[in-house]
Amino acid sequence: MARAKQKESAGGRAQDAIALLKADHRQVEEWFEQFEKARDSDRKQKLATQICNALKVHTTIEEEIFYPAFLEATDDTDLHHEAVVEHNGAKKLIAEIEGSSPDDDYFDAKVTVLSEMIKHHVKEEEQRDGLFSKARDSDMDLDALGEQLAARKAELEGDEEDVEGTPPGGGRKSRGEEGRLMKGR
Ligand SMILES: [Fe+2]
Ligand SMILES: [Fe+2]
Repeated sequence: MARAKQKESAGGRAQDAIALLKADHRQVEEWFEQFEKARDSDRKQKLATQICNALKVHTTIEEEIFYPAFLEATDDTDLHHEAVVEHNGAKKLIAEIEGSSPDDDYFDAKVTVLSEMIKHHVKEEEQRDGLFSKARDSDMDLDALGEQLAARKAELEGDEEDVEGTPPGGGRKSRGEEGRLMKGR
């Protein structure tokens, strides 16, 4: 068997940093599209929550891990600072969406504008000469960063689940464990 070089194929492990961040982008884009088509309030609420949670995790891992490594490796303060400012704009809108509901007249507009902001931001990251391509051209260790991003992401997603009660996938994760703890053994 040839060594499955770096990438997965079976276990879905070991994405490099850029592959991981791009996969996040695609996931959120898909949810935005579904939101656009959604009609009933429950569905809209569910998608908006998924989108906001995913974006909070994504912006956090970029800001904690990827962006500082990018700045260190490239000294490109313009690209770095613009990305951070765009994150801050998105976070304000995310907070507004979280503070409202599909009953709010402006709910759909807020989600649509967030989607446009994110589309613009993702383009800045992914386009030719954008942040990701400059990262690729630098000496950043994208494999090591990929591992760090994945670990921090898993940790943050765990926190979201604790807050929300049920994970987006509709899981029943730690229920059994909770039960065991309750029995006091
Ligand atoms: Fe991103
Ligand atoms: Fe970003």
